[in-house]
Amino acid sequence: MAEVIVAFDMPSPDDARRMVERIPGLKWVKVGPILYLNGGPQLVREFKNRGARVFLDFKWHDIPNTVSGAVRAAADLGVDLATVHTLGGAEMMAAAAKAASGCDLRLVGVSVLTSHTSQGYFDSVGRPESSDLTGEVVRLARAAVAAGLGGLVASPLEIQAVRPVLGAGRWIVVPGIRRAGSDPGDQHRTADPASAARAGATHLVVGRPVTQAADPAAVYQEICASAA
Ligand code: C5P
Repeated sequence: MAEVIVAFDMPSPDDARRMVERIPGLKWVKVGPILYLNGGPQLVREFKNRGARVFLDFKWHDIPNTVSGAVRAAADLGVDLATVHTLGGAEMMAAAAKAASGCDLRLVGVSVLTSHTSQGYFDSVGRPESSDLTGEVVRLARAAVAAGLGGLVASPLEIQAVRPVLGAGRWIVVPGIRRAGSDPGDQHRTADPASAARAGATHLVVGRPVTQAADPAAVYQEICASAA
């Protein structure tokens, strides 16, 4: 069984407030740069006051001092889940994990973005001859565990490979969720919610298929039922 997180990537805080009202029982809201830069910490507090848990997804990839300070600020704001980028390195991830320890904030590491193809990823890291993207995600999962992070963000295609690396207790947060026949948009490594949950995802991240639906509540409920 996986929990469903809805990505609120709309620019307007008022649209975001209306969307929360349109989805009764919404448990998790993901706030990224588009909404945060318009709504700020006040909007995060509003979501929390309405009973939603907040996933702040900034994929921090900076020096250890900056990332650990950001982690502390997110924890002070009441954020429940946040991301650092595993390519930021062992020292940064360990500093971030230390900053999160003793807080109610869970920190997970982003591995390879779901919008990457294998070719696009290995070109961007300067290894165009490589093609084992699953092996690369497993490598980054090991680095996240060694640094003390509480889980990994991976595409649906790598869930089974990383599960044994992460062990019980760590989260596998999975974007790239699309129902059969639904528009993938810019996502390249996708699966339907039931398959991702069966493979061992603990959390599914779904944005546009819910927020751009004519009836967001119905799509949200359907995805929750598939993930149960
Ligand atoms: O609209 P869609 O369902 O594609 O939204 C997916 C969300 O998950 C976006 O907010 C995106 O930033 C985020 N995400 C992702 N791939 C990752 C990490 C986060 O798509 N590896």
